[in-house]
Order: sequence, then structure tokens, then C-alpha cells
Amino acid sequence: MLDVRGLKKVYESSGRRIEAVRDLTFTVEAGELVCLVGPSGCGKTTLLKCVGGLLAPTAGQVALAGRTVAGPPPGMAFVFQEYGRSLFPWMRVGRNVELPLKQKGLGKDRRRELVADALESVGLADAAGAYPWQLSGGMQQRVAIARALAYEPEVLLMDEPFAAVDAQTRADLEDLVRRLWRERGITVLFVTHDIDEAVYLGERVIVLSASPTVVQEQLKVDLPAERDQLHTRVAPRFAELRTHVYAQIQAAKRGTAAMVDRAGEGTSKGA
Ligand SMILES: Nc1ncnc2c1ncn2[C@@H]1O[C@H](COP(=O)(O)OP(=O)(O)OP(=O)(O)O)[C@@H](O)[C@H]1O
Ligand SMILES: [Mg+2]
Repeated sequence: MLDVRGLKKVYESSGRRIEAVRDLTFTVEAGELVCLVGPSGCGKTTLLKCVGGLLAPTAGQVALAGRTVAGPPPGMAFVFQEYGRSLFPWMRVGRNVELPLKQKGLGKDRRRELVADALESVGLADAAGAYPWQLSGGMQQRVAIARALAYEPEVLLMDEPFAAVDAQTRADLEDLVRRLWRERGITVLFVTHDIDEAVYLGERVIVLSASPTVVQEQLKVDLPAERDQLHTRVAPRFAELRTHVYAQIQAAKRGTAAMVDRAGEGTSKGA
């Protein structure tokens, strides 16, 4: 579904040159939920913006279902890192969710149906008439998720969507993402700097190195599809996986490949 090949992004402005992403290659299968984890500033947002066609890569390319991404492709939705800035404060919640559907050219009835359905899915059926600033942070982020869902994307890109909400809300939203992913069969690329979150959510975790960024390792998460906050997080396998990812990230910071332990046998891709 997604094919990222030799992606490189260098920012150049007023004489400064920042190589945010050096060389990234990975694929995401249709219907897969993949988490990208990497240290702060390693270029995760840059990568997602390139994948979403919001930024042009300096080298390499991104393909969606075989077609090179040259601008925001139809069928892709984005949940941004800064939800506070992603909703229009002067529009009611319902309108915010509806806006991309208008741009998609859908009729009024269909739009109303999709908005109601999406808000219901995120537990905000009652909030359609509120303004975003009347809602809590977690609720605003739910609205952003509802807007992405209503659009009925094939691919959903999420950039640290829960970084700014409290732990309890975060756990609820993580479960929401997994539930929606399972119900709707969408392809999800989820960026986080939180190792536990990556292992809890993902079917696969791609570990990025520190900037200039390459893929440090890819790890299959062989936890059961049915996950819950209480049991999954205390499962021995969960602990093994998170320890392994942690070691990889430490190694990434040092610029070396970690010793391959059993959790990642055969999957290590040295930097
Ligand atoms: N528009 C820009 N112009 C110049 N440099 C930029 C721009 N956007 C990002 N950078 C630089 O590129 C690097 C990667 O930034 P990016 O925001 O992609 O990292 P990130 O992994 O998403 O970080 P975080 O975890 O803090 O969200 C940083 O060094 C940053 O300063
Ligand atoms: Mg970021």
C-alpha cells in the first residue's frame, strides 16, 4: 500500500542546511497498523509530511498503491501532532468534521451521515454543536480523529496524536485507534516517541535512528490481536518487546546496531 524508498529530506533556508531524514526505506501492507518510533527531532514529522505529500522529498520517493505521491493524495488522512492548531476555532465541531467531505464533493445527506457516524465512533455524538475551544484537549483530539475517519481514508497517518493528553485519555484513545483499525480495515502509519505505545498499538514497529535518520530496525509485534491496557502491558512478551525496542533506540542514539536479542532475531538492520 505504501512504499517509501530511499527517502531523503534536507531543509535549506537562509544558509542553514539541515538533513532531517537521510535514507529511509520501508513498506506498509494494506490494512496493516505500523508504528514508527524514534527520538525527538529525528524527522518523524518530516517523514509523515513527505508520505502525505505535504512536503517534497529531496531524494527518493513515496508511492501509494503503486502511484508516486506528488501532492496530498485522495484516500489519505492526517491527524497532526498539534491538534490545538488543526481544528478551526470559529467552526462548530460538526462543521470541522464535515469540511474535508465538502472538498471531496459529497452530497449533503451523505456528509451528515458520515459526520454523525464518525463522531459516534469516537464517543462525541453530543459534541457536534460545540466549538473546539469548549472541549478538553483529549476531546479535541477525538474530533481530529473523527474528521480523519469521516473522510473514509484508505491510509491514515497519525503524528504523535496523543502526546499532549493525560495518561488515562491516552489509554482510551489508543484503544480507540486499535478498535477503529480492526473494524474498518484501514492502513495506519502511527508515529510516536513512546516505546510502550508503539508496542501496544503496532502490528509492526519500525525503529528510526537519531537524525540524520535511517531505519534502525523493523520488528514484528507478535502479541495477540486482542489487546487490552491491563493484560497486554503486563504480559511477559510485551516486556521483552519493549526492552528490545528500548535497546535499539539507545543503540540508534549511539549510532550502532544493538546486539540482536531473541525478540528481534533475524530482523535487525544495523545502522
Ligand atoms: N520547516 C523546517 N525548516 C527547517 N528545518 C526543519 C523544518 N522542520 C523540521 N526541521 C528540522 O528537521 C529535523 C527533524 O524535525 P521533525 O519535526 O521532523 O522531527 P520529529 O521527529 O517529528 O520531532 P518531534 O519528536 O519533536 O516531533 C529537526 O532538526 C528540525 O529542526
Ligand atoms: Mg514531530
